[in-house]
Amino acid sequence: MARRCLSIILAAGEGTRMKSARSKVLHEVAGLSMVRHVVAAAVSAGSERIAVVSGRDSETVVEAVRRDRDDAEHIVQEERLGTGHAVLAARSAIEVGADDILVLFADTPLIRPETLARARATLIAGAQVCVIGFRPENPTGYGRLIESSGELMAIREEKDASEAERAITLCNAGVMAFSGDRALDILDAIENDNAKGEYYLTDAVEIARQKGLSVRAIEAEAWEVAGVNTRAELAGVEATWQAMRRERAMLEEGVTLIDPASVTFAHDTALGRDVTIEPNVVFGPGVNVGEGAVIHAFSHIAGATIAAGVSVGPFARLREGTDLKAGAKVGNFCEIKNAVLGEGAKLNHLSYIGDAEIGAKTNIGAGTITCNYDSALKHRTVIGADAFIGSDTSLVAPVRVGDGAYVGTGSVITDDVPDGALAIARERQVNKEGRGLAIAERNRAAKAAKAAKSEETS
Ligand code: UD1
Ligand code: CA
Repeated sequence: MARRCLSIILAAGEGTRMKSARSKVLHEVAGLSMVRHVVAAAVSAGSERIAVVSGRDSETVVEAVRRDRDDAEHIVQEERLGTGHAVLAARSAIEVGADDILVLFADTPLIRPETLARARATLIAGAQVCVIGFRPENPTGYGRLIESSGELMAIREEKDASEAERAITLCNAGVMAFSGDRALDILDAIENDNAKGEYYLTDAVEIARQKGLSVRAIEAEAWEVAGVNTRAELAGVEATWQAMRRERAMLEEGVTLIDPASVTFAHDTALGRDVTIEPNVVFGPGVNVGEGAVIHAFSHIAGATIAAGVSVGPFARLREGTDLKAGAKVGNFCEIKNAVLGEGAKLNHLSYIGDAEIGAKTNIGAGTITCNYDSALKHRTVIGADAFIGSDTSLVAPVRVGDGAYVGTGSVITDDVPDGALAIARERQVNKEGRGLAIAERNRAAKAAKAAKSEETS
């Protein structure tokens, strides 16, 4: 039978150094809050139960987590008395019983499922406690891992460490795994007689050793256990995430990035084979790009489905609910929101298309606008297949243009256009013989009179 795994995610930090109105763990990496990154890693590592210990912004934090796991357990840590105290706040979740218990920090968003799985494997191999260590460039401030012949003997917090212990380079990342049947026994023995007067989770190591249990450390990469305390560290973690995502795009997904460092992905960007992405493109959440599509420079894309062979940009903005069918083309300075562009349809220049449906192979002329908002409600525009919308047309929704219909340039379309019809909705042109020359003559005279007057007064 599969081992049952509970993950306890500590998210009760004040996050003062973020200087933010929001809890630190709600700040985003690749468009997803840090706490949700940690939940995703725990779930991928096979954790079927998630318990979140929160402090500040409790309700918002748990709401975020429940978007992924609606059954997530939630505990508010009323007083912040240390990491050991925080884990014990989740006592009721621990009492339910689990084979493996993972303790994670919500401000360490890059932790890999593989590493969590290794920690669980260490428990299966016979340890009752497993600590994830790493070797930071500068170990100041971290707890040091004190090992002896393969066993982890203790974790010494910086403030309580001797000179010799401070020289140890293997540090505590904060992530720990406990054998479920021993966890409470160990955690209940933690006391707060140390330099900070806190209940240190790290004391669990010495306590387990005293009980004759086996404690092991495993090593993770420094980047994956990087914690975020400041906006600068948040930007550093974002940079690491983006660099890895670009590598994956190029090396595993067969995507061409002409200037990789200038492309920003979101946590869930999905890319097909042979996609090309030009410089300075930003992906917000919810984008799926089909095989062979080309995203030209300076495009901003979120919540959009882009089918195979589609061409987007340069300078395109695709918003929530954009659905571009195979072979469609969206050119420069076009904005699309909540609209379907049918197969092979073209929207090449300077348009806004919102709340609309455009049929296959229809051509939308330059400067066409769907007037979808009447100051209170949004309305739909539906255009059939093989239609032609002349440049600078305003489509006042709700309105329907039929299959094969033709709309004259500069029209303001307020009524439905039947299939195959021609619609022209603008003033007819009038030519007045000689009147152009007369106007020019009048204007020149006015200019001369004005110049003469300013000469007099100067
Ligand atoms: C902790 C470890 C240290 C390790 C370091 C790695 C302890 C005692 N020390 O130190 O060995 O090298 O992390 O970054 O565990 N939290 C709560 N409630 C509390 C206290 C903390 O939820 O009462 C949460 C914080 O929000 C944070 C995490 O636990 O996400 C770590 O707490 P923090 O005070 O930052 O521990 P460190 O001193 O950094
Ligand atoms: Ca910390």
